[in-house]
Amino acid sequence: MMRSHTCNDLNEQHVDTEVTLSGWVHRRRDHGGLIFIDLRDRYGLTQIVSDPAVSTTTHEIANNVRPEFVVQVTGVVRKRPDGMRNDKMSTGGIEVLVKDFKILNKAKTPPFEIDQDKEVAEDVRLKYRYLDIRRDRMKQNLLTRYKVIKLIRDLMDNKGFVEVETPILIKGTPEGSREYLVPSRLYPGTFYVLPQSPQQLKQLLMVAGMDRYFQIARCFRDEDQRGDRQPEFTQLDVEMSFVEAEDVIQVNEEVMIQVVEQLAPHKKLLSKPFPRITWEDAMNKYGSDKPDIRFEMQMVDVSDMVKDSQFKVFSDAVKNGGVVKALKVDGGNSFTRKEIDEFTDVAKIYGAKGLAYIQVAEDGPKSTLVKFFSEEELKSLVSHVGAKAGDIIFFTADSFNTACEALGHVRLACADKLKLRDPNVFAFCWIYDFPLFEYNKEDKTLQSAHHPFTSPKNEDIEMLDTQPELVKAKAYDLALNGSEVAGGSIRIHNPELQSKIFDILKISKEDAQNRFGHLLHAFEFGAPPHGGIAWGLDRLIMIMRDEANIREVIAFPKDQKAKDLMLNSPSEMPEAQVSELHIRVQLPKK
Ligand code: AMO
Ligand code: AMP
Repeated sequence: MMRSHTCNDLNEQHVDTEVTLSGWVHRRRDHGGLIFIDLRDRYGLTQIVSDPAVSTTTHEIANNVRPEFVVQVTGVVRKRPDGMRNDKMSTGGIEVLVKDFKILNKAKTPPFEIDQDKEVAEDVRLKYRYLDIRRDRMKQNLLTRYKVIKLIRDLMDNKGFVEVETPILIKGTPEGSREYLVPSRLYPGTFYVLPQSPQQLKQLLMVAGMDRYFQIARCFRDEDQRGDRQPEFTQLDVEMSFVEAEDVIQVNEEVMIQVVEQLAPHKKLLSKPFPRITWEDAMNKYGSDKPDIRFEMQMVDVSDMVKDSQFKVFSDAVKNGGVVKALKVDGGNSFTRKEIDEFTDVAKIYGAKGLAYIQVAEDGPKSTLVKFFSEEELKSLVSHVGAKAGDIIFFTADSFNTACEALGHVRLACADKLKLRDPNVFAFCWIYDFPLFEYNKEDKTLQSAHHPFTSPKNEDIEMLDTQPELVKAKAYDLALNGSEVAGGSIRIHNPELQSKIFDILKISKEDAQNRFGHLLHAFEFGAPPHGGIAWGLDRLIMIMRDEANIREVIAFPKDQKAKDLMLNSPSEMPEAQVSELHIRVQLPKK
């Protein structure tokens, strides 16, 4: 027997019993003869005492152990003397007096201390992830992750969903990201593709009659890394037959509320049911399709008021089909010049050409723009956005998307500055009525806003031929505190409509057959109306755990440059193994 209890089991009820514990030496303190060791395992800590009066040989061993040695201790549980109790620990009332002490394994001095919460450089943490996971932060994050996934499995099961595993070696799916390829050995010159998501497979499962599918699914996307993205990440993937958007939203909202209320009870849900906001309202009021609604600070359109203004930046924007958006910030007149410059930089990152502003002082509005506006115009602008003395109003003038998005980011920056984003409030909202298509920023062609299997709204189908850019989709996203935590749609189940969408996307019949012939073909055998959604589980857990980075909730993540610093991958492979795959490596010219 390696142990009779874990390091979190013992309490005063065990006093006088003999126990055996195994674990890591967390801390060791020498107190004039007595040696105290905090022994650690996944479950907790137990204080061990070695007394030379009990055994000098054991005491000698206890004297030689160092942090992170793996040891086994047999001894008798005794009550800690009054004044030595630690009521914060469940084992804080007892200690184990050593009778027998064995070193099971020695340990080198770790590159960082396990028993402290000190900041450690992330590349070191990632290289020694197995030591990092010994620390409480990572351990708690992984435990929460496990609990979330287990609870989801139970809740989905209760709702009649069936988990089906879908393959990892598949064929490309057009969801917008670059894909990871796996060369085939048996079929020279051909490749498997790692799934960006199980999108097509889950739709095929609906054709197969599975009715309610879910999967805790690994997805692979060769994208640029950001704090909330990883090249491989995990979704709760869901698909349902004979449903409308409302059914998908209902089920997922119920599950989400259970997950948050049970596993992050300290987070206050701002509103239940979750508010629903159209994409257009979200862009107009918050400048984002994943708005943070923990605070108000809504943007206002002032295009009509300034369309004839002397300030060319504003009037030209409107003349060119763009808009002028205003953001009133309560108390923002206290922002310093430097802070305003920072907000201007934020606006510029998101494509704005500048950030105009009016400061509202006790004696009236002040602005570098004053010369362009009559007193009347200024007054009516100020009153239109509801500004009072002490506030500031920011403006962006640009195309709808740029003006909204840039000012939306200024909104978030102001809220951060004013500490309006309370991490203990959870503000979910559904965003719906997304455009079906968007213009590709580079070549200005139409592309799917979500993916090409998303159904247009019935009443918009006739605009597909004439004004496709105005067609709205049966798509919905779930935002939480300014992050997109889930997204999905009702799918096209009719092969003619699907072909039409491919036409609009300029995907040729041949190309469509080649890439998704299997899906189009399957739809000819009786596809039920269906739809679904996928949650970004890593992102959700990251927010639940108050982490700023998705890597903190993944056991063995890639770094910002998509590298695994522990395994040192990607890595070169032996020539023989590469050529077996009929591949010749062509390195970029230096
Ligand atoms: P989508 O691409 O919107 O939809 O992805 C769903 C959710 O997954 C999360 N997510 C990511 N998380 C971490 N790293 C990434 N690189 C990453 N990319 C996305 C986001 C996002 O909301 N098949 C569709 C779903 C459907 O239509 O049912 C899909 O994958 O939280
Ligand atoms: P300028 O005319 O470049 O001196 O700019 C005057 C003010 O208008 C500055 O505060 C700029 O940041 C701001 N500004 C310039 N272009 C825009 C724009 N497209 N939208 C909003 N403000 C702008």
